[in-house]
Amino acid sequence: MKILVTGGLGFIGSHTVVELLENNYEVIIVDNLYNSKIDVLDKIKKITGKETKFYQDDVCNKMALEKIFKENKIDSVIHFAGYKAVGESCSKPLMYYHNNLMSTINLLEVMKENNVKNFIFSSSATIYGNPGTSKYVEEMGRGKTTNPYGTTKSMIEQILEDLYNSDNEWSISILRYFNPIGAHSSGLIGESPNGIPNNLMPYILKVASKQLEVLNVFGNDYPTPDGTGVRDYIHVVDLAKGHVSALNKIVKSGAGVYVYNLGSGKGVSVLELVNTFERVNGVKVNYRIADRRPGDLAEYYADPSKALKELGWKTEKTVEDMCRDSWNFMKNNINE
Ligand code: WQD
Repeated sequence: MKILVTGGLGFIGSHTVVELLENNYEVIIVDNLYNSKIDVLDKIKKITGKETKFYQDDVCNKMALEKIFKENKIDSVIHFAGYKAVGESCSKPLMYYHNNLMSTINLLEVMKENNVKNFIFSSSATIYGNPGTSKYVEEMGRGKTTNPYGTTKSMIEQILEDLYNSDNEWSISILRYFNPIGAHSSGLIGESPNGIPNNLMPYILKVASKQLEVLNVFGNDYPTPDGTGVRDYIHVVDLAKGHVSALNKIVKSGAGVYVYNLGSGKGVSVLELVNTFERVNGVKVNYRIADRRPGDLAEYYADPSKALKELGWKTEKTVEDMCRDSWNFMKNNINE
């Protein structure tokens, strides 16, 4: 089976490509290298011993997509490509709406023209908005999002539901990720954001490796056990495996829209993550308590029971594994 993976050289995309190859799927990657590096392609080959066909193209370029579909007999598409920085989306909303929506609509149009109707979409827990409860269940549905990035995810979920309602032959899986961290155990692929990171683990890595001086812990007066924000961190390899399970499900169960939370179900605070990182890696992470970050919620985590029941998927890796693998990747790639 041939799977087209958009954004397949990015953080979650590259780990998913590895899992697909290890499960004997054939993979075609399309990636414009906006936020990824070409050497990831070789690293995927090093890990799996398998070749992946690669197109350096933008998913917003419909002609390029048409060519890819003409040259390959694609069975299913996993769509990761998109802009993902929350802060940037607030200062450049048109860029985010244009890119994330146009790329997805183009892709779905070209799929329809080619009668390819198996689609997996990278969504996010951010679509729940602020539901007033900490445990997020799929049935709660989409809430009011707090930034344009999140709104693009929510809008695309709606587009996918409308598409299915117009044509019941589509098999669509919407995967709502919680907070992906960690890296492949080989240390070859992981997350390398450009510039100063916004997210917690990439920031911890910069401080632990002395590239940045101090981590600001955004608030210690939340109504949580230690006062710092609580999130559901998920190892990227577990998350990647969730995509293979979702793909097996849509292929087996046929048409429908299947929505799943991909998270561990366990909340971890900022200080717990920092302390675990220091303990398992034997390094110091300088931090100071700072003001709350506007827009942050105190606490949320997944109810992952639907994915367990319907996909037979659950997370296997611990917070210790996430901290160890993240640091291992950082140490291997510090000079790149
Ligand atoms: C985690 C916790 C912070 C940085 C965001 C997006 C979401 C998704 C994932 C996907 C919070 C605290 C962070 C720092 C800190 N995006 N923190 N100091 O905000 O849960 O989710 O990324 O593509 O849509 O909103 O993740 O890693 O930024 O924060 O104290 O320097 O760490 O306050 O409690 P978040 P995060």
